[in-house]
Amino acid sequence: MHDMNDAAVLADVFPLGSRRDARGTLALGGVPVDELAETYGTPLYVYDEATIRAQCRAFVQPLARAYPNSLALYAAKAHVDPTVAAVVTSEGLGIDAVSSGEIRTALAGGAAAERIVLHGNNKLPREIEYALDAGVGRIIVDSLDELALVEDLAAARARPAPVMLRITPGVEAHTHDYIRTGAVDSKFGLPLASGAAEAAVERAQRSPALDLTGLHAHVGSQVFELAPYADALGIVLDFADDMRQRHGLRLRDVSPGGGFGVRYDPGDDPPAAAAFVAVIAETLLARGLDPAPRLLIEPGRSIIARAGTALYRVGVIKEIPGVRTYVSVDGGMADNIRPALYGARYRALLANRAPQGPQRAVTVAGRYCESGDVLLRDAELPELRRGDLLAVPAAGAYHMAMASTYNLVGRPATVMVRGGAARLTRRRETDEDLLAAFCVG
Ligand SMILES: Cc1ncc(COP(=O)(O)O)c(C=O)c1O
Repeated sequence: MHDMNDAAVLADVFPLGSRRDARGTLALGGVPVDELAETYGTPLYVYDEATIRAQCRAFVQPLARAYPNSLALYAAKAHVDPTVAAVVTSEGLGIDAVSSGEIRTALAGGAAAERIVLHGNNKLPREIEYALDAGVGRIIVDSLDELALVEDLAAARARPAPVMLRITPGVEAHTHDYIRTGAVDSKFGLPLASGAAEAAVERAQRSPALDLTGLHAHVGSQVFELAPYADALGIVLDFADDMRQRHGLRLRDVSPGGGFGVRYDPGDDPPAAAAFVAVIAETLLARGLDPAPRLLIEPGRSIIARAGTALYRVGVIKEIPGVRTYVSVDGGMADNIRPALYGARYRALLANRAPQGPQRAVTVAGRYCESGDVLLRDAELPELRRGDLLAVPAAGAYHMAMASTYNLVGRPATVMVRGGAARLTRRRETDEDLLAAFCVG
């Protein structure tokens, strides 16, 4: 029974090409995990370069075929460092950034400034100035307040700020939960219904400091359905047509955002990247716009989630007879907040040796001082021993990116594996690193 479980998780959720070697030890990108743990310590986040590249191509290739005037932007919030930025850049993607830190990291990875966009509902003035001076391609303006701020900052500069407006289309989707309510209760975006979106178009069109290139919408994250994209993009295109007639808007860029769902369990069945691309391109092509706008999409999780694996070392095992067995590992909610934050469910495999004997349900707990610090509830695992390695797949997105130093534990190291070799891409934070940030006396 456990072999089938092991095989399905390995084949469908772990990075491409993950397998057990002759000893039964899991190898990622051709590197056995016991070697990785020995060299770099645990917890460790292991990124597989081939999987990142394959996911980039899964979006870029159908997009180039279906709608050549397009650009896929990697949503760096999912996880970024200069190495990841360099890999996605070399695959032809631009970068969707939400801070000056993400812009700098993208630039450090070799991304071209004009292929970076800046998002966010409260961009700091200094971040907007930095983005303008760095020459980022688009600033996606989120509110009327922010439009005025960008206009002010751009007025002091030589060229108008290239901006898009983020519209709240009233379409919201998360996994299978898809609603079209007309709801405007979001901290993001300019609502259509209140007239804020139109007021922003009107103001941007009149301002010599702003170059309004187009419109953006984002429906949600971990979306498993296609209809929300057609729906939201349709609403944006209707609005664009209205704004063309009323305010002379020339739609040069349009974006339905990101949010494309991924598999965390072999039973999950998200649409393929090509299916998301197809519905978006078809919705746009069906309008027969002339001139046709450029299409921007913003995949984050779907590029990086599968490429990342979290490696933990088993420590204390506590059996409460008749109740539950807790297996504590050396990481937890500070490197993966998703289970505590929104009940996200994961799979885990015993990684340093072949699973043997019957499986049983255990709860994999983190090391942090919170009862809610549980990574996996009722995970079916073989008998575990102190010192074993557990590997949690689909750990590439929104783990390290959201990591904290809770309990003053430094954040894990990350490595990138490729063709049987590993390289350190972020060193582990030490107690000394954390102490160095304090001002004493
Ligand atoms: C505007 C925008 N674009 C893209 C993304 C990326 O989403 P995902 O990582 O789910 O693809 C997000 C995520 O919140 C977003 O807010």
